Order: sequence, then structure tokens, then C-alpha cells
Amino acid sequence: MLRGAGAAGQDRRLRRTGPPGCGGRRAPRGAATLGPMGTQVIGAGPPRLAATRYVTALREGGSLPALVEAEDDGLYVVKMRGAGQGPRALVAELIVGELARAAGLPVPDLALIDLDADLGRAEPDPEIQDLLRASAGLNLGMDLLPGALAYDPAARQEVAPELAADVVWLDALVTNVDRTAANPNLLVWHGRPWLIDHGAALFRHHQDWSLEGAAARPFPAIAEHVLLPVAGAIDAADARLAPRLSPDVVGRIVDLVPAEWLEDEPGVAPQERRRAYRDHLTARLAAPRAFAQEAEDARRRAA
Ligand SMILES: Nc1ncnc2c1ncn2[C@@H]1O[C@H](COP(=O)(O)OP(=O)(O)O)[C@@H](O)[C@H]1O
Ligand SMILES: [Mg+2]
Repeated sequence: MLRGAGAAGQDRRLRRTGPPGCGGRRAPRGAATLGPMGTQVIGAGPPRLAATRYVTALREGGSLPALVEAEDDGLYVVKMRGAGQGPRALVAELIVGELARAAGLPVPDLALIDLDADLGRAEPDPEIQDLLRASAGLNLGMDLLPGALAYDPAARQEVAPELAADVVWLDALVTNVDRTAANPNLLVWHGRPWLIDHGAALFRHHQDWSLEGAAARPFPAIAEHVLLPVAGAIDAADARLAPRLSPDVVGRIVDLVPAEWLEDEPGVAPQERRRAYRDHLTARLAAPRAFAQEAEDARRRAA
């Protein structure tokens, strides 16, 4: 769907005033929607938007994301390619965010935010000046959910067992080590949980871009997942979600990654990098899915 920046700005203002899905708002941009016969249709993917204003740094997390305004008047939490984790964290954010969306899980809209090298010239902190300078070009933005609260497992906030199981299943698929009680990376907004921060998923790509053999490796850290204690059966989540992530859907999501994030391995072309992600994910998604069994075993042990 083609939309002008003006329409996007208008849409954003609507979004700020009401919960998702209200007021006749269209489906989120770039969303996977159900097509004929229940097949998944990936939209055009995250839009590419120029940053117009650097607002502030968010210091709660480890990666120093920025709050940035973009040309559509929207505010985005931006993960920067020049941060310590490097562009692979952005690759993980994008692939996992869009896999989650295609699986039907609540993830804020993503955008590719184009940063101009001197956007931060008025920023007094030299660390942030350096980060902005090292991040010229495309960065990963996530639509800001204004007023969202951090999910607090101790407060026993309600997350439906099916949704909790779906989130555990997704995080097991993508080896996400960053959804623990200490660091849930879940926001509660308009009474619903939203998934954020997928930069630490697919962590094995930091050791080996090819992910050779990684698909079959166990992921015991799933036992630490913040939603495991409230999750319903993971095998039921597996039956619900796996059909939504066909090899075609996975391939299209991997193709959304900007080539410039796939150039940090000397001598390896972006196309080869894409193939590695696609092959890794399709291998993990091929039945029987050991990661789902591993997560279900962890759930039963914890029960
Ligand atoms: N889309 C969002 N809407 C509102 N707040 C957000 C959003 N994304 C991140 N935040 C806030 O910023 C903090 C840091 O973001 P996060 O993606 O978790 O980065 P880090 O890698 O630094 O942990 C989060 O803990 C949350 O408080
Ligand atoms: Mg975080």
C-alpha cells in the first residue's frame, strides 16, 4: 500500500489518542495480514523515513537507543548501527520483529530511519555525538508507544496463557536471551503486552555469520523466560504459529534487511548473508521442531 508522509502523520496522531484498532484505523503498516486460504501476506515492510530531530537518549537499556522524530511526525525509538553491538543487532531487531508480526504477535511498527551525520550537532554529550556520527545512514526505528509501562512479573499483570506460550515459542525459535524477569523487554500499552527489543536474538550470528550448524543447537536459556511460568502449552503454540512462518514468509522477511547492514563481514556478499539467515530459520522451522519441545520441557519442569 502506498501512502504519503502526510497520511502517516495523521495516522500517528490518531494512534496517540486511542488504543490500537480503534477509530477505524487501518492495519499497522508493514503488517502481515491473512490472505486467501489463511496464507500470510507480508506488506511492503518497514518504511524508510528521514530523521528530522534527535530528541534524547534512552538510558534505561544497555544499547543507548535514541528517541528520534521522523519526517512523518512520528516518534521512534531508534537502535543505532554505530552502537557497540554493531549492525547485526539491527538485523536481529528487524528479522525477529517482523517474524513476530507475521506470527500474529503484538510488535510496534518498525521503520528504517535515515540519520544525517550531523543530526546530533546540538547534543552536548560527546558519547552521543560519537554514536550519532558512527550511525549515519539507515538505523532501526520502533514506533514509540507513548505512556507504555514496563511489564512487571512481580505485579502479576495478566498475560493470557496462549499469548504467553506464543511469545515463549517465538523467543525459542529465534534464541532470544533477552526476555527474562530481570529484563522482560515487554511493554504494557492500552492494557495489552507489546514485544520490544529483539537485538540480542539470533545471538550466534555474532560468533559466526554463516550460522552453520546453529539451527540444531539446544537453547537451555529458554528456561529463564519471563513468561514461562504463566504460559500455556508450547506444543499448542507450535501448532498455531509454525504454519504462519512458511519458508516464503521467512524469505520475504529476510529480504527486508537493508543490504548496508549486511556488509560487516569482509568478503561475504549481502546475498550470502541473507541465505544464511533464511536457511537457519527455515531449518529451525522444519518439523519436528526441537526448540518447541525444549521449551515445552522447560515449562513442565517449572510447573
Ligand atoms: N516502542 C517503544 N515504546 C515505548 N518505550 C520504548 C519502546 N522501545 C523501547 N522503549 C523504552 O526504552 C527502553 C530501552 O529500549 P530497548 O529496546 O529495550 O533497548 P536496550 O537494548 O537498550 O535494552 C525500554 O526498556 C523501554 O523503556
Ligand atoms: Mg531492553
